[in-house]
Amino acid sequence: MAQKFRTLLDLCRRRGFLYQSAEIYGGLRGAYDYGPLGVELKKNILNSWWRRHVYYRDDVVGLDTSILTPHHVLKASGHVDEFTDLLVDCTLTKERFRPDKAPQITLDKDGHIPILAPNKETAQIWKSTIEEQLAPNIKLTVKGNCILLHTASIMNPDLKNGQVGEITFEMKDDNQSPFILKYHGYVEPNTNSPFLTDSRPFNLMFKTFLDPIDPIDRVIQTTLQQKESISSTIRATVDEVLKPSTVYLRPETAQGVFVNFEQVVRSMKMKPPFGIAQVGKSFRNEIRLEHGIFRTPEFEQLELEYFVPPSHSNSYFDYWRKERFRWWLEHACHPENFRQRDHTKDEMAHYASGCTDVEYLYPWGWGEVEGVANRGHYDLTQHIQNTGANFKISEESSSYVPHVIESSCGLNRAMLAYLCDAFHQIEDENDKGKPPRIVLKLDPRFAPIKCAVMPLTGKPEFNSLTQKVARSLRCKGWYTVVESQKLKIGKRYYRHDEIGTPWCITIDYQSLEDETVTIRDRDTCKQERLHWKEVQQVIADKLMKGEAEELLD
Ligand code: GAP
Repeated sequence: MAQKFRTLLDLCRRRGFLYQSAEIYGGLRGAYDYGPLGVELKKNILNSWWRRHVYYRDDVVGLDTSILTPHHVLKASGHVDEFTDLLVDCTLTKERFRPDKAPQITLDKDGHIPILAPNKETAQIWKSTIEEQLAPNIKLTVKGNCILLHTASIMNPDLKNGQVGEITFEMKDDNQSPFILKYHGYVEPNTNSPFLTDSRPFNLMFKTFLDPIDPIDRVIQTTLQQKESISSTIRATVDEVLKPSTVYLRPETAQGVFVNFEQVVRSMKMKPPFGIAQVGKSFRNEIRLEHGIFRTPEFEQLELEYFVPPSHSNSYFDYWRKERFRWWLEHACHPENFRQRDHTKDEMAHYASGCTDVEYLYPWGWGEVEGVANRGHYDLTQHIQNTGANFKISEESSSYVPHVIESSCGLNRAMLAYLCDAFHQIEDENDKGKPPRIVLKLDPRFAPIKCAVMPLTGKPEFNSLTQKVARSLRCKGWYTVVESQKLKIGKRYYRHDEIGTPWCITIDYQSLEDETVTIRDRDTCKQERLHWKEVQQVIADKLMKGEAEELLD
């Protein structure tokens, strides 16, 4: 499985889906750039979502709000105080990690704690750190890159994350009182080290400053003027100086929708139930970046905030859970690898009263791709309380603050899920011993390139028809490429199978005589001969098949 995922990542790099950001400078951790094919795939997923939720309905409108968000908005929404993850530092390895995702302690057959260093040299450095700073005089042995901590007893090694136990170590000198370490039910994930700080909340938002004058200079100037009590006031001074210019890179697109609620209602004459869709970048200073584009500091969200009368919130929550899951399955080759999972009470975000995740079975296990949540009237009420905004809807007999059902999908995670879903390796009967060839069986609507037009040879007599066919497809807005390299036609087909191009149109010698061409299908490898003027309609029908089903449902 891991090998298959590595082959997929290699394909993404090799064929222009995904690059490490600033690679020529050694890369920036957690940052990725989308290549010419990646940007198309991402755009096609986004467009499918937008068509489904905005164009195919008459109760949803779009919005595009600013990424830079003032302090007041995110204070009111609860993000300034509550948008936190717990963070723990390992005092031995200096790694930083989230305790809720960290494993329990591992013991060897003698009940001792093995700590695995990356190499022998590091094991020796860590041994000194333990002996000199972290646990002086405890008994330990080093074998290669493994440090073995001799444990006298450990209070319940299966301790649940969040409870506190103790590890008691054997001492070099039996007369010395034993060294005891607090144990919280987890260790540093990479090494099994139990030398950890207490957990502390860590705000996930990126803070920046909207200020033409370097705010740091201003802080220095102000603190210098207050020299006498500098140490006690320094933090307060920094906060005070920076406060007026503090803005955040938004951690979700949703708040931009809530603060514009009244404007949209007024300008578009909307009444609940209705929705506002927004697509855009969000930013989170994640403690742990994982699995390529799965968890990154900068990512894109497709969010729909659907406003309903309070008494309808449960039924619309059910409606959107079903509706969104249907969208995921419609585009999948392997629907069995998608599932819905209801949040338990302690998992739920501070604003939600119900939440169901859509998860995909990635090569490393199930991972969240979308959350559908019942946010109640939390956000609108918070903004009303802080600004006095008029977010109430007045109806004949009553007035109310609408409840919000939210569907929040990660575009980058969707792209990764559909790439994994589409990735097929096929052993070729005639090519025994060669690595299997790759076919990306992407939904044609998602495929970066819709059609590749292939003249059999590069001879000039093929040019005119090749260009006519390509133009007839391009004018429909389909990304179409002309492949006139010297490669054999079969090789050219395979190169397009690898990037998911659903249709290759070949111009051969017969085409020069009767203006017919062949269309080859990526998944069946079957070819159909038809007049070139029919190609546009045939492909339009194939692309519309799924869309029409969506519309008529
Ligand atoms: N407005 C609600 C909200 O933002 P969330 O569950 O925190 O809810 C929604 O995020 C979706 O955004 C997730 O299901 C995931 O697909 C995506 N997402 C969140 N954090 C991400 C990250 N660091 N990298 C990539 N995608 C992320």
